[in-house]
Amino acid sequence: MPERGRVGILISGRGSNMISLVEAMQRGDVPADPVLVLSNVPSAQGLERAAEMGVPTAVVEHRRIKPREAHEREVVRVLQQHRVDLVCLAGYMRLLSPLMVEAFRNRMLNIHPSLLPAFPGLHAQRQALDHGVKLAGCTVHLVDEQCDHGPIVLQAAVPVVAGDTEESLSARILEQEHAIYPEAVRMFFDGKFRVDGRHASVEA
Ligand code: GAR
Repeated sequence: MPERGRVGILISGRGSNMISLVEAMQRGDVPADPVLVLSNVPSAQGLERAAEMGVPTAVVEHRRIKPREAHEREVVRVLQQHRVDLVCLAGYMRLLSPLMVEAFRNRMLNIHPSLLPAFPGLHAQRQALDHGVKLAGCTVHLVDEQCDHGPIVLQAAVPVVAGDTEESLSARILEQEHAIYPEAVRMFFDGKFRVDGRHASVEA
């Protein structure tokens, strides 16, 4: 691993997790640099914010490059061109094929707004409310071939309160996402980060 890590962040929309990651790296809280923010959606709000923060951006439109594998090959090519050590999916709303998972095996993180393995997939916060859970939360995990499934790196629990709506619960979960995602990236570059089966940890 080089002295300072090189992080590529993939987004599809607002990009608030991307912003929290970039800010943490730029503050020096994480020993890595954001070298690329890439989106599959040209109108993704986060692209403009990334540029304002001085991070190079790229767009690889899934609508223009078909099939899925061809789009992913191009995404992988651009990430490799930027010599990315770690890929952070931050609201990147694409199901990944084995091609991309294999290219960044144990070097790709995702954040999901539930306490996995509960409520994978879309609208996790609504699923949690509908199910009547008392504790919701968020998870940073390594990406494997299954959706929202790989080894868990960090989680934060968020209590559901009376009268919670999808919006109010999502907002409180998002605050925790912004705390644990930079921390997980810091752990990754710690030098003692290990993955053993489903278990990701930092050795003592
Ligand atoms: C976040 O809540 C993230 O956890 C979720 O999308 C939102 C993106 O917000 N990701 C997933 O649901 C992935 N399965 P952001 O663009 O403001 O970071």
